[in-house]
Amino acid sequence: MDPPKRRRRRRRLAALAGTSARGTSQTEIMVAASTETYRRLAAELPLPDDAVLEIGCSSGATTQILARRSRRVLAVDVSAPFVERVRADLAHASGVTALQLDGRDVPDLAAHLPNPDLIFVDIGGNAQLDNVVLQVRQCLMTFSPRVLVVKSAELSALCSLVTWHEAPEHDPLRPRSTEGTGAVLANLLDLSRSSSSVNRVYAARRLGVLRSRHPSPEADRRLEELAEDPDERVSRMARLKLQGHPDTHYSHP
Ligand SMILES: C[S@@+](CC[C@H](N)C(=O)[O-])C[C@H]1O[C@@H](n2cnc3c(N)ncnc32)[C@H](O)[C@@H]1O
Repeated sequence: MDPPKRRRRRRRLAALAGTSARGTSQTEIMVAASTETYRRLAAELPLPDDAVLEIGCSSGATTQILARRSRRVLAVDVSAPFVERVRADLAHASGVTALQLDGRDVPDLAAHLPNPDLIFVDIGGNAQLDNVVLQVRQCLMTFSPRVLVVKSAELSALCSLVTWHEAPEHDPLRPRSTEGTGAVLANLLDLSRSSSSVNRVYAARRLGVLRSRHPSPEADRRLEELAEDPDERVSRMARLKLQGHPDTHYSHP
Protein backbone atom coordinates (compact mmCIF):
# COMPACT_ATOMS: atom_id res chain seq x y z
CA MET A 1 0.00 0.00 0.00
CA ASP A 2 1.46 3.41 -0.93
CA PRO A 3 2.07 5.87 1.96
CA PRO A 4 -0.90 8.28 1.36
CA LYS A 5 -3.27 5.30 1.09
CA ARG A 6 -1.79 3.84 4.24
CA ARG A 7 -2.24 7.17 6.07
CA ARG A 8 -5.85 7.46 4.92
CA ARG A 9 -6.58 3.93 6.08
CA ARG A 10 -4.94 4.64 9.44
CA ARG A 11 -7.07 7.78 9.90
CA ARG A 12 -10.23 5.87 9.00
CA LEU A 13 -9.43 3.11 11.46
CA ALA A 14 -8.46 5.62 14.13
CA ALA A 15 -11.76 7.48 13.65
CA LEU A 16 -13.57 4.19 14.13
CA ALA A 17 -11.77 3.68 17.42
CA GLY A 18 -12.63 7.22 18.53
CA THR A 19 -9.03 8.39 18.74
CA SER A 20 -6.93 10.72 16.68
CA ALA A 21 -4.41 9.23 14.28
CA ARG A 22 -1.70 11.25 16.02
CA GLY A 23 -2.69 10.01 19.45
CA THR A 24 -3.82 12.11 22.39
CA SER A 25 -0.40 13.10 23.66
CA GLN A 26 0.43 16.78 24.04
CA THR A 27 4.09 16.00 23.94
CA GLU A 28 5.14 15.13 20.44
CA ILE A 29 7.17 11.94 20.56
CA MET A 30 9.63 11.37 17.73
CA VAL A 31 11.51 8.14 17.23
CA ALA A 32 14.84 8.21 15.38
CA ALA A 33 16.21 4.93 14.05
CA SER A 34 19.73 6.23 13.48
CA THR A 35 22.20 8.50 15.24
CA GLU A 36 22.38 10.57 12.08
CA THR A 37 18.65 11.40 12.24
CA TYR A 38 18.82 11.92 16.02
CA ARG A 39 21.55 14.51 15.56
CA ARG A 40 19.69 16.13 12.67
CA LEU A 41 16.67 16.56 14.95
CA ALA A 42 19.01 18.02 17.59
CA ALA A 43 20.06 20.60 15.03
CA GLU A 44 16.53 21.39 13.84
CA LEU A 45 14.15 21.25 16.79
CA PRO A 46 15.51 23.59 19.48
CA LEU A 47 14.37 27.22 19.61
CA PRO A 48 16.83 29.75 21.07
CA ASP A 49 14.89 30.02 24.35
CA ASP A 50 14.58 26.29 24.89
CA ALA A 51 15.90 24.30 27.82
CA VAL A 52 16.93 20.82 26.70
CA LEU A 53 17.48 17.64 28.66
CA GLU A 54 19.73 15.05 27.02
CA ILE A 55 19.78 11.56 28.54
CA GLY A 56 22.75 9.44 27.44
CA CYS A 57 25.07 12.18 26.20
CA SER A 58 28.06 9.84 25.78
CA SER A 59 31.08 11.84 24.56
CA GLY A 60 28.93 14.86 23.73
CA ALA A 61 28.55 14.92 19.94
CA THR A 62 24.80 15.64 20.20
CA THR A 63 25.38 17.91 23.23
CA GLN A 64 27.58 20.16 21.07
CA ILE A 65 24.80 20.47 18.49
CA LEU A 66 22.16 21.22 21.15
CA ALA A 67 24.45 23.75 22.85
CA ARG A 68 24.69 25.76 19.63
CA ARG A 69 20.91 25.98 19.33
CA SER A 70 19.45 26.37 22.81
CA ARG A 71 19.64 28.57 25.88
CA ARG A 72 20.22 25.75 28.36
CA VAL A 73 21.29 22.11 28.06
CA LEU A 74 21.46 19.53 30.83
CA ALA A 75 23.38 16.53 29.49
CA VAL A 76 23.57 13.39 31.64
CA ASP A 77 25.22 10.02 31.33
CA VAL A 78 25.86 7.16 33.74
CA SER A 79 29.48 7.04 32.65
CA ALA A 80 31.79 9.37 34.63
CA PRO A 81 34.57 9.43 31.96
CA PHE A 82 32.06 10.54 29.30
CA VAL A 83 30.70 13.27 31.55
CA GLU A 84 34.24 14.50 32.29
CA ARG A 85 34.91 14.66 28.58
CA VAL A 86 31.75 16.61 27.82
CA ARG A 87 32.60 19.05 30.63
CA ALA A 88 36.10 19.59 29.24
CA ASP A 89 34.96 19.94 25.62
CA LEU A 90 32.10 22.29 26.45
CA ALA A 91 33.80 24.33 29.17
CA HIS A 92 33.53 27.40 26.92
CA ALA A 93 29.79 26.98 26.23
CA SER A 94 27.50 28.91 28.56
CA GLY A 95 24.27 27.25 29.67
CA VAL A 96 25.56 23.66 29.36
CA THR A 97 25.75 21.40 32.41
CA ALA A 98 27.01 17.83 32.20
CA LEU A 99 26.25 15.55 35.15
CA GLN A 100 26.86 11.93 35.95
CA LEU A 101 23.29 10.81 36.54
CA ASP A 102 21.21 7.80 35.72
CA GLY A 103 18.31 8.63 33.42
CA ARG A 104 16.08 6.41 35.54
CA ASP A 105 16.43 8.90 38.41
CA VAL A 106 14.05 11.32 36.73
CA PRO A 107 13.22 13.23 39.93
CA ASP A 108 16.96 13.94 40.29
CA LEU A 109 17.01 15.24 36.73
CA ALA A 110 14.00 17.42 37.54
CA ALA A 111 15.86 18.91 40.50
CA HIS A 112 18.46 20.20 38.03
CA LEU A 113 16.14 21.11 35.16
CA PRO A 114 12.48 21.25 36.22
CA ASN A 115 10.80 22.14 32.91
CA PRO A 116 12.68 21.00 29.82
CA ASP A 117 11.11 22.11 26.54
CA LEU A 118 12.78 19.26 24.68
CA ILE A 119 14.07 15.89 25.83
CA PHE A 120 16.53 13.78 23.85
CA VAL A 121 16.92 10.15 24.91
CA ASP A 122 19.60 7.83 23.56
CA ILE A 123 20.55 5.22 26.12
CA GLY A 124 22.37 3.01 23.66
CA GLY A 125 21.91 0.79 20.70
CA ASN A 126 21.70 -2.31 22.86
CA ALA A 127 19.16 -0.94 25.29
CA GLN A 128 16.26 -3.36 25.43
CA LEU A 129 12.97 -2.03 24.14
CA ASP A 130 11.35 -2.25 27.57
CA ASN A 131 14.17 -0.15 29.03
CA VAL A 132 13.66 2.46 26.32
CA VAL A 133 9.91 2.49 26.95
CA LEU A 134 10.52 2.70 30.71
CA GLN A 135 12.82 5.69 30.24
CA VAL A 136 10.25 7.45 28.05
CA ARG A 137 7.46 6.69 30.52
CA GLN A 138 9.52 7.95 33.46
CA CYS A 139 10.20 11.19 31.59
CA LEU A 140 6.49 11.65 30.81
CA MET A 141 5.56 11.02 34.44
CA THR A 142 7.59 14.03 35.48
CA PHE A 143 7.94 16.37 32.53
CA SER A 144 5.72 17.84 29.81
CA PRO A 145 8.18 18.74 27.09
CA ARG A 146 7.07 20.06 23.72
CA VAL A 147 8.92 17.23 22.00
CA LEU A 148 10.60 14.07 23.24
CA VAL A 149 13.02 12.51 20.78
CA VAL A 150 14.08 8.94 21.40
CA LYS A 151 16.69 7.05 19.44
CA SER A 152 15.87 3.40 19.15
CA ALA A 153 16.07 1.31 16.00
CA GLU A 154 13.81 -1.33 17.59
CA LEU A 155 11.10 1.11 18.61
CA SER A 156 11.27 2.77 15.22
CA ALA A 157 10.92 -0.60 13.45
CA LEU A 158 7.91 -1.44 15.61
CA CYS A 159 6.27 1.97 14.97
CA SER A 160 6.74 1.57 11.22
CA LEU A 161 4.89 -1.75 11.29
CA VAL A 162 1.90 -0.38 13.18
CA THR A 163 -1.02 0.50 10.89
CA TRP A 164 -3.61 0.98 13.62
CA HIS A 165 -3.66 1.16 17.37
CA GLU A 166 -6.34 1.42 20.02
CA ALA A 167 -5.79 4.17 22.58
CA PRO A 168 -5.75 2.40 25.95
CA GLU A 169 -8.34 3.48 28.50
CA HIS A 170 -5.66 3.97 31.16
CA ASP A 171 -2.56 5.01 29.30
CA PRO A 172 0.41 3.35 31.01
CA LEU A 173 2.73 5.90 29.40
CA ARG A 174 0.91 8.72 31.15
CA PRO A 175 0.54 7.75 34.78
CA ARG A 176 -0.88 10.29 37.19
CA SER A 177 1.64 13.01 37.98
CA THR A 178 2.67 13.55 41.57
CA GLU A 179 4.78 16.08 43.43
CA GLY A 180 7.80 15.89 45.74
CA THR A 181 8.39 12.59 47.52
CA GLY A 182 5.25 11.27 45.81
CA ALA A 183 6.89 11.76 42.40
CA VAL A 184 10.06 9.96 43.52
CA LEU A 185 8.01 7.11 44.97
CA ALA A 186 5.84 6.86 41.83
CA ASN A 187 8.97 6.61 39.66
CA LEU A 188 10.53 3.97 41.90
CA LEU A 189 7.35 1.90 42.07
CA ASP A 190 7.17 2.06 38.29
CA LEU A 191 10.84 1.03 37.99
CA SER A 192 10.31 -1.78 40.50
CA ARG A 193 7.75 -3.35 38.12
CA SER A 194 10.17 -3.42 35.19
CA SER A 195 10.66 -6.77 33.51
CA SER A 196 14.41 -6.23 33.82
CA SER A 197 15.81 -7.56 37.10
CA VAL A 198 18.62 -4.99 36.85
CA ASN A 199 15.96 -2.28 37.09
CA ARG A 200 14.23 -4.06 39.98
CA VAL A 201 17.50 -4.33 41.95
CA TYR A 202 18.07 -0.64 41.32
CA ALA A 203 14.50 0.22 42.41
CA ALA A 204 14.84 -1.88 45.58
CA ARG A 205 18.02 -0.06 46.49
CA ARG A 206 16.48 3.36 45.87
CA LEU A 207 13.28 2.44 47.75
CA GLY A 208 15.53 1.53 50.69
CA VAL A 209 17.17 4.96 50.56
CA LEU A 210 13.75 6.63 50.31
CA ARG A 211 12.29 4.84 53.36
CA SER A 212 15.43 5.59 55.42
CA ARG A 213 14.72 9.31 54.83
CA HIS A 214 10.92 9.42 54.83
CA PRO A 215 8.80 6.67 56.42
CA SER A 216 6.72 5.25 53.58
CA PRO A 217 4.27 2.37 54.04
CA GLU A 218 4.01 2.07 50.24
CA ALA A 219 7.79 1.70 49.87
CA ASP A 220 7.78 -0.87 52.71
CA ARG A 221 4.98 -2.83 51.07
CA ARG A 222 6.70 -2.89 47.70
CA LEU A 223 10.04 -3.90 49.29
CA GLU A 224 8.26 -6.77 51.04
CA GLU A 225 6.93 -7.92 47.66
CA LEU A 226 10.39 -7.53 46.09
CA ALA A 227 11.85 -9.63 48.93
CA GLU A 228 9.88 -12.51 47.35
CA ASP A 229 11.10 -11.74 43.82
CA PRO A 230 12.12 -14.88 41.90
CA ASP A 231 15.42 -13.24 40.99
CA GLU A 232 17.75 -13.75 43.92
CA ARG A 233 19.64 -10.47 43.32
CA VAL A 234 16.37 -8.55 43.65
CA SER A 235 15.11 -10.39 46.73
CA ARG A 236 18.52 -10.07 48.45
CA MET A 237 18.64 -6.31 47.87
CA ALA A 238 15.04 -5.90 49.08
CA ARG A 239 15.73 -7.92 52.25
CA LEU A 240 18.88 -5.90 52.98
CA LYS A 241 16.92 -2.68 52.63
CA LEU A 242 14.06 -3.93 54.83
CA GLN A 243 16.68 -4.70 57.49
CA GLY A 244 17.84 -1.08 57.22
CA HIS A 245 21.15 -1.96 55.60
CA PRO A 246 22.99 1.28 54.68
CA ASP A 247 23.30 2.28 51.04
CA THR A 248 26.03 0.53 49.12
CA HIS A 249 27.86 1.67 46.05
CA TYR A 250 25.92 0.75 42.97
CA SER A 251 27.71 0.39 39.68
CA HIS A 252 25.67 0.63 36.54
CA PRO A 253 25.68 -2.70 34.67
C1 LIG B 1 24.82 5.42 22.06
S1 LIG B 1 25.38 6.38 23.38
C2 LIG B 1 24.68 7.96 23.07
C3 LIG B 1 25.32 8.65 21.89
C4 LIG B 1 24.91 10.09 21.78
N1 LIG B 1 23.49 10.24 21.55
C5 LIG B 1 25.66 10.77 20.64
O1 LIG B 1 25.02 11.37 19.77
O2 LIG B 1 26.91 10.68 20.64
C6 LIG B 1 24.45 5.81 24.75
C7 LIG B 1 24.88 6.39 26.07
O3 LIG B 1 23.84 6.15 27.00
C8 LIG B 1 24.43 5.99 28.27
N2 LIG B 1 23.42 5.36 29.13
C9 LIG B 1 22.97 4.08 29.11
N3 LIG B 1 22.02 3.90 30.03
C10 LIG B 1 21.86 5.09 30.65
C11 LIG B 1 21.02 5.54 31.70
N4 LIG B 1 20.15 4.73 32.33
N5 LIG B 1 21.12 6.83 32.09
C12 LIG B 1 21.99 7.68 31.49
N6 LIG B 1 22.82 7.30 30.50
C13 LIG B 1 22.75 6.03 30.08
C14 LIG B 1 25.68 5.17 28.00
O4 LIG B 1 26.64 5.34 29.02
C15 LIG B 1 26.14 5.76 26.65
O5 LIG B 1 27.10 6.76 26.84
